[in-house]
Amino acid sequence: MSQKETIILGIESSCDDTSASILKNNAILSNLIAGQKVHESYGGVVPELASRAHLQNIVPVVDDAIKKAGIALEDIDAIAFTKGPGLLGSLVVGTSFAKSMALALDIPLIDVNHMYGHVLAHFIDDEGKAKPSFPFLCLTISGGHTQIILVRSHLDMEVIGSTIDDAAGEAFDKTAKLLGFPYPGGPLIDKHAKNGNPDSFEFAKPNMDGYNFSFSGLKTSILYFLQKQTKLNPNFIEENRDDLCASVQRSITNVLFKKVIQAAKELGISEIAIAGGVSANSEIRSRLKEEGKKRNWNVYIPKFEYCTDNAAMIAITGLYMHKAGMHSNQSVSAQARIPFVPLINSSKS
Ligand code: KG4
Ligand code: ZN
Repeated sequence: MSQKETIILGIESSCDDTSASILKNNAILSNLIAGQKVHESYGGVVPELASRAHLQNIVPVVDDAIKKAGIALEDIDAIAFTKGPGLLGSLVVGTSFAKSMALALDIPLIDVNHMYGHVLAHFIDDEGKAKPSFPFLCLTISGGHTQIILVRSHLDMEVIGSTIDDAAGEAFDKTAKLLGFPYPGGPLIDKHAKNGNPDSFEFAKPNMDGYNFSFSGLKTSILYFLQKQTKLNPNFIEENRDDLCASVQRSITNVLFKKVIQAAKELGISEIAIAGGVSANSEIRSRLKEEGKKRNWNVYIPKFEYCTDNAAMIAITGLYMHKAGMHSNQSVSAQARIPFVPLINSSKS
């Protein structure tokens, strides 16, 4: 007997991207993202402007995702949406929309933790690409989070290390601001680093307990260094921009990999994945491959489009939760902060 196909609509609105995706089992039929240019001139995401833009975008984005997938409304088996973590005003838009649509269609509703989504993006079908085997370690690096997650099964994950201050994405974006780049500056550091020498400058190296990270010392050390240098030469940043970008990127990459290597060794795990917006960074991607070769790891790097925020990752998480019968009711509400806890105990199943 052939396995029944499951079609999930995923909705993501945790920050400044409104996204909708249709998933048929593990295959993506559509994954549309409406970004918000409105924040660029403010040097960061402005929550009020983000929720207003989500309100404008959500209906056309969901509509287009359904059309592009070539399905009918009645084909959708369940709706998965991001409950949190993220900006409350933004989350409320996706949450209210998903609740109303599930009610209207009389189908199950699934509330998804955004961070589970980043990890489970690895289980989206991608022509011949292998999926991680359990247990694996996932370095999840985004604008709001930096974590090493021990993944025991699709729904059994545990954070074993995280940042005690800034996230890796914030470290990139805040440094980029100091270097005169618009928000979000992470991708611009990546671009300029390609022409620079990563050994040009050295910045503070944090020494954290266990598998935890810290990036605020690095940012302060860069700030003081730039203040000192620009007093001596007002054109210092312009004249050294590429080398500064390469050195900053190397420092952040070193901080991340020091802990991943330690965790892999101590836990005896050689399946290593990266996820989250910052995993789009080219040095982090190539470093993972390099370390993988050196240490005999199997490494997993998501497609660019599944690294940054997208609804496909919410839909795939919804698929696994749907199969496990984890549905929510109409009283569910958006939550800016959500603890990251295992959804099941896989050792008992
Ligand atoms: O996961 P994500 O799209 O949104 C959050 O949930 O935070 O991550 C966004 C973060 C931003 O800080 C952005 O600067 C960073 O990912 N980012 C990068 C690159 N592409 C995106 N950082 C460094 N290099 C990149 N290529
Ligand atoms: Zn994210």
